Amino acid sequence: MGDGVLTLTSEIDPTAVKVRPVLKWVGGKSRLLPEILPRLPAAFHAYHEPFIGGGALFFSLGAQETPRNFYLSDLNQALIEVYEALRDCVDDVIMFLRQHEYESAYYYQIRALDPQRLSLPERAARVLYLNKTCYNGLYRENKSGQFNVPFGRYKNPNICDEPNLRAASAVLSRAQVEQRHFSTVLETARSGDFVYFDPPYYPLSATANFTAYSRYGFSEQDQIVLRDVFAELTKRGVYTMLSNSDTPFIRELYADFNVHTVFAARAINSKAGARGKISEVLVCGY
Ligand SMILES: C[S@@+](CC[C@H](N)C(=O)[O-])C[C@H]1O[C@@H](n2cnc3c(N)ncnc32)[C@H](O)[C@@H]1O
Repeated sequence: MGDGVLTLTSEIDPTAVKVRPVLKWVGGKSRLLPEILPRLPAAFHAYHEPFIGGGALFFSLGAQETPRNFYLSDLNQALIEVYEALRDCVDDVIMFLRQHEYESAYYYQIRALDPQRLSLPERAARVLYLNKTCYNGLYRENKSGQFNVPFGRYKNPNICDEPNLRAASAVLSRAQVEQRHFSTVLETARSGDFVYFDPPYYPLSATANFTAYSRYGFSEQDQIVLRDVFAELTKRGVYTMLSNSDTPFIRELYADFNVHTVFAARAINSKAGARGKISEVLVCGY
């Protein structure tokens, strides 16, 4: 893939997004997009997202139909395979997804399957199905890497949203998707590219445990390594942006950069209606 074309971002309208994320993902950025989009660099070459998760910003940028290269990565293999399968064999994913049923005993049968015995589109359809029907749309694995979230209660889950899956497939056709550690972005990002980091957030309190996305935790040391990667890319002329929790530790780590305080509405406890706004930080190296 080459350097791509410089593309203006100032006209992006967050309400005109045509592709929605295909997975519910803890820390999904859809609610923060109105804060992120106006702060994008005015123009950039390729887009890199090394903690892709649900990919809310990627899908909203991809839907702009601009000739840009996208480099997406994450440590979670099951997640990466969903994007690969949607890009390369969306018809098969949809065919397998249509065969799945919303029923508790059936859910546990599918959850118990060994993914290694399934084809790539079957594995992707299984992850999409479990994500749409599991409790709270969580992705959680036990120590041996097996998905272990219980069945969830929904009125009428839209297990196979075919138009959105096809739209996502079209956007992904321009993306390189790989399972890798975030630090490898140092090898792919060039001057004039844009990198958006959405890591597991540093916990707000010692007891908060938001970092258990998979069997790979994310430690304080990882946050420090990430800051060093952010600083190195910025020094090389890469446009860098990062979201994280609004905590003294994170503010101190990024004290040399532009730290914006932003707000996203989110549930603060499980009681219906009890919602509040918690500040987060959006750090820009430009
Ligand atoms: C906050 S989520 C990303 C949310 C996403 N940007 C969205 O909008 O939905 C963080 C992601 O980081 C991934 N992750 C954790 N440690 C990682 C590492 N060392 N390198 C790359 N990805 C990692 C997790 O698998 C998870 O998908």
